[in-house]
Amino acid sequence: MKRGKFITLEGIDGAGKSTQMEVLKSSLHLNGIEYILTREPGGTPLGEKLRALLLNESMSPETEALMMFASRAEHLREVILPALSTGKWVISDRFTDASFAYQGGGRGMDYSRLAVLEDWVQGGFQPDRTFLFDLPVEVARERLMRNESLDRFEQEREDFFLRVRNAYLERAGRFPERFVVLDSSRSPEEISKQIEESIATLCK
Ligand code: ADP
Ligand code: TYD
Repeated sequence: MKRGKFITLEGIDGAGKSTQMEVLKSSLHLNGIEYILTREPGGTPLGEKLRALLLNESMSPETEALMMFASRAEHLREVILPALSTGKWVISDRFTDASFAYQGGGRGMDYSRLAVLEDWVQGGFQPDRTFLFDLPVEVARERLMRNESLDRFEQEREDFFLRVRNAYLERAGRFPERFVVLDSSRSPEEISKQIEESIATLCK
């Protein structure tokens, strides 16, 4: 059985991930690929409980990082690896790059500490493709303001998101073989086209 591919979606809040999820789904469907959709933090019953705490309760940056990785450990073992081993593709709305961007860039935690957790939880396991939805922070803020309620991260100030965006771009620069950086200030149609092309290449 051929192992499925692991695709992750990343970007600052309001960058347009959810909007493009539908495109990704139909693109996989057209290519005849079986897949599951999942998310972090969350993706398992325990992970979803952790997500509710992470998005709503105040906590120290250390606790936050550990809980993100606790949710990931469960997600990886219970959902992601089993699905990939049966040949299914896994699409995850966020994964470890988000910890480097938010807990590392945003909260200022040492990357070396996060790398220890990454190695502990996933060894060398990495996504096959990561779509980074990138756009200026002020544009994302404007889009986010259309939402009725904002969670603990979405309520952060602009400088937090500037650091998160920069940390994401740094990751993309370090791992160019798996990252596709999407200019999210373009129209949804233009972004969709780039995603479809990238998926077609990955399917070959
Ligand atoms: P995310 O899931 O990354 O937080 P969403 O997909 O929910 O972002 O998008 C945030 C808001 O921006 C929504 O109101 C959505 O309709 C709008 N939006 C998404 N993509 C675009 C785009 N390319 N151009 C303009 N507005 C967009
Ligand atoms: P997300 O599901 O994108 O939020 P929404 O459903 O509101 O679009 O992500 C939840 C939040 O968790 C997001 O603000 C980023 C944050 N996050 C981290 O800080 N570190 C992580 O490792 C992950 C996976 C998410």
